[in-house]
Amino acid sequence: MGRRIAAKITGVAGYVPPRVVTNFDLEKRVDTNDEWIRTRTGIRERHYAEPGVAASHLGTEAAKKLLAAQGVQPDQIDIIVVATVTPDMLFPSTACLIQDRLGAKNAWGFDLSAACSGFAYALTVGAQFVASGTHKRALVIGSDVMTSILDYKDRATCVLFGDGAGAVLVEPAASDAEGILDFAHDIDGSGGCNLYMPAGGSLNPASLETVEKRMHYVHQEGAQVFKYAVRRMSELALQVLERNGFTSRDLALVVPHQANLRIIRAMQERLGVDDSKILVNIDRFGNTTAATIPLALMDALEQKRLRKGDLVLLITVGAGYTTGAILMRWAY
Ligand code: UT7
Repeated sequence: MGRRIAAKITGVAGYVPPRVVTNFDLEKRVDTNDEWIRTRTGIRERHYAEPGVAASHLGTEAAKKLLAAQGVQPDQIDIIVVATVTPDMLFPSTACLIQDRLGAKNAWGFDLSAACSGFAYALTVGAQFVASGTHKRALVIGSDVMTSILDYKDRATCVLFGDGAGAVLVEPAASDAEGILDFAHDIDGSGGCNLYMPAGGSLNPASLETVEKRMHYVHQEGAQVFKYAVRRMSELALQVLERNGFTSRDLALVVPHQANLRIIRAMQERLGVDDSKILVNIDRFGNTTAATIPLALMDALEQKRLRKGDLVLLITVGAGYTTGAILMRWAY
């Protein structure tokens, strides 16, 4: 039996900046080509924020869309949890900046760092406050401006990412049979060296040297991360299903982190589900880190692939390593 959490997602919204950058656009800037990017990753295009547009701006836009669609006033939000690895600055938190822009004057909140698993972890945290009964409405946001930390001299990494944000509203569930049924998260810090940004923190504060050595960018050992992602996403997905008495046949939809289409397909094969049960939108957005899952939920709703009562699995792996799985009975 899993860990029932009496909280549910009651609304989803996403926002991507308007500028679209195709693989062909990247060909002009990087020694790469559309064919390699498409066949190795599944990405065709991604969205880029303009200079001066930060994670808080994208997150605020997603949150505004969400609140307008739900008819919720900003002062009805009790807590804001923002997942990001590209905060506007180290402090104040992105949550504070978004709270101010929204005018969410009754909310407290904070940022959470779990890279590509950030949204799953933030949703779990927000849901706990709601399920405990101390908070009625949690605003959970995943927002990243990955272009602010991309090295265009590293062609294996820079082509993968895009910018975007997604937001969900979390409210109390009527019973523990709807909304979040269970989560299975784990971290493995021994993989930290395979995906990281070396400078800008207390270990390597910004200096001329850190800039010259290109230490303020994403560094990734792609093949290592790839193998770990396929293995752990499949293992955690099966684990969370099994301990709740389900098999993958019970799933209506799997919403995976969008890092690489080949990772998604390899996990899909291990789960034994067909394409209709896997949400894929990496072709349009690339890897937006903390925003991939809410943007995918947004697409699932727009494509009418999520209905009340559906069993849904969110599944992700990210830097850390961090892994996350959330099993839900979709509630609206
Ligand atoms: O969300 C966070 C988690 N991140 C991930 O899940 C990413 C996981 N890793 C991956 O998705 C893949 O490892 C990559 C897409 C990053 C790389 O794919 P790969 O199949 O592991 O390629 P590779 O790095 O082994 O490179 C294969 C070849 C190399 O050429 P040679 O040495 O075989 O001649 C690279 O130089 O592809 C070359 N290459 C490129 N060619 C054109 C690497 N990047 C590019 C590029 N364009 N952008």
